[in-house]
Amino acid sequence: MAFTTEERYRAYADWSADYIEKIKKNTENSPWRTNFHIEPLHGLLNDPNGFSFFNGKWILFYQYFPFGAAHGLKSWVHTESTDLVHFEPTGTVLYPDTPLDSHGAYSGSAMQFNDQLFLFYTGNVRDEHWIRHPYQIGALMDSEGKIQKIDKILIAQPADTTDHFRDPQIFNFKGDYYAIVGGQNLEKKGIIKLYKALNKDYLNWEYIADLHFDNDLTAYMMECPNLVFIDEKPVLLYCPQGLDKAVCDYDNIYPNMYKIGQSFNAETASLLKPGPLEQLDYGFECYATQAFNAPDGRALAVSWLALPDVEYPTDRYDYQGCLSLVKELTIKDGKLYQYPVEAITSLRTDAQVFTEKTETNNVYELELTVEADSCVDLLLFADAKKQGLKLTIDPANGRLVLDRKDCGEAFALDFGTERQCPIDNQLTTANIFIDKSVFEIFINKGEKVFSGRVFPRQDQTGINILGGQASGTYYSLDYGRKTH
Ligand code: FRU
Repeated sequence: MAFTTEERYRAYADWSADYIEKIKKNTENSPWRTNFHIEPLHGLLNDPNGFSFFNGKWILFYQYFPFGAAHGLKSWVHTESTDLVHFEPTGTVLYPDTPLDSHGAYSGSAMQFNDQLFLFYTGNVRDEHWIRHPYQIGALMDSEGKIQKIDKILIAQPADTTDHFRDPQIFNFKGDYYAIVGGQNLEKKGIIKLYKALNKDYLNWEYIADLHFDNDLTAYMMECPNLVFIDEKPVLLYCPQGLDKAVCDYDNIYPNMYKIGQSFNAETASLLKPGPLEQLDYGFECYATQAFNAPDGRALAVSWLALPDVEYPTDRYDYQGCLSLVKELTIKDGKLYQYPVEAITSLRTDAQVFTEKTETNNVYELELTVEADSCVDLLLFADAKKQGLKLTIDPANGRLVLDRKDCGEAFALDFGTERQCPIDNQLTTANIFIDKSVFEIFINKGEKVFSGRVFPRQDQTGINILGGQASGTYYSLDYGRKTH
């Protein structure tokens, strides 16, 4: 169903309960509902928001348009967790219901102050000429999940940016609070602005400067910037839309990238000695990754496993999008690693020696090892005709290739059906999480990651070894009761 602008921005109260019931039923009929990933009960999920620790719990919101598989009037849906694996939606929602966020409660971050959680987000407002006014605004959530909006623009659109100015991320650096905001300058180039909370007061933000990180200035907009600290090194994650592929090659419609700096100077807004720009994920879907430093110092991240401006086969079931597993970010030998938090192993119910299988429930983890001078060709979501998701782990020739062309329903064909990346000629491990229509593949415990979606046919449930050898374990996974 194609949504008109009127439908996309129709007030929440003007959608009937019958309509919502109807699309919810339709979503329930999807053959591709996930088992252990967060996805909407109906409608469209996009960016993770407000990922934080508050009141003894992990908090994770997501961007939401409830009324179908379209980008429209966005709100935030609240979920919480005690283990970073099982998340429960609570019903708390940040609605687009004030003059400062009338056309969408867009993406943002969160941090605890005293006994409240401060939500820092973008109010998307369109005036009567449909001109966009982006406001960086805030709200406070109490321990009961009650949200009170702060009736004040915390950061206004600067004179040197266009109306593309959004996605504030608040972070603590040496005891002071800072925020970075993604934007587009008047030359239509993507930039990131740095602000500081005066006297540690989240209601008063002072502009410092545009962030210096050897910005190649080829992107036209930086969405969802995040700065986290790992072993004191600043790691900047962001989505440079329109990035020149000569700077860093990518195949997806929009990339999600990162840079590691040697240190951070807040006064000069500088990421010092930034390393090369790198792809966060080599797969087909990974965007708007949100990361934060937890109170225990860990850098935790979660991604949106879909992309803007792409149609998905689930659209006809009136829903779209899911979140990734929560990944811990670490640095080893100067390289960024991303790996699901330890508690993910609590989903394992049964371990078997890895062999071919004609039938699974497509909810499992494989933990495989491939010898340095060998290569294995695996087929996941395999059917009797040997069609499925083809994964070639080839340390002998230093490459990994993933091909989804024969796995169920085709989509996003403009961006190709194959992804690859170089790997070292060494003993290589792969932890492969399969969840009905989601795959997350972690090479060498997170040195390289491939995430994405496939929409297999009913008979695509097997695992084949097409050639070569891999040894390891097949784990059945069970999430228990799922409410999202
Ligand atoms: C990224 C994004 C953000 C924006 C939000 C709106 O996917 O475009 O820049 O805040 O989605 O839903």
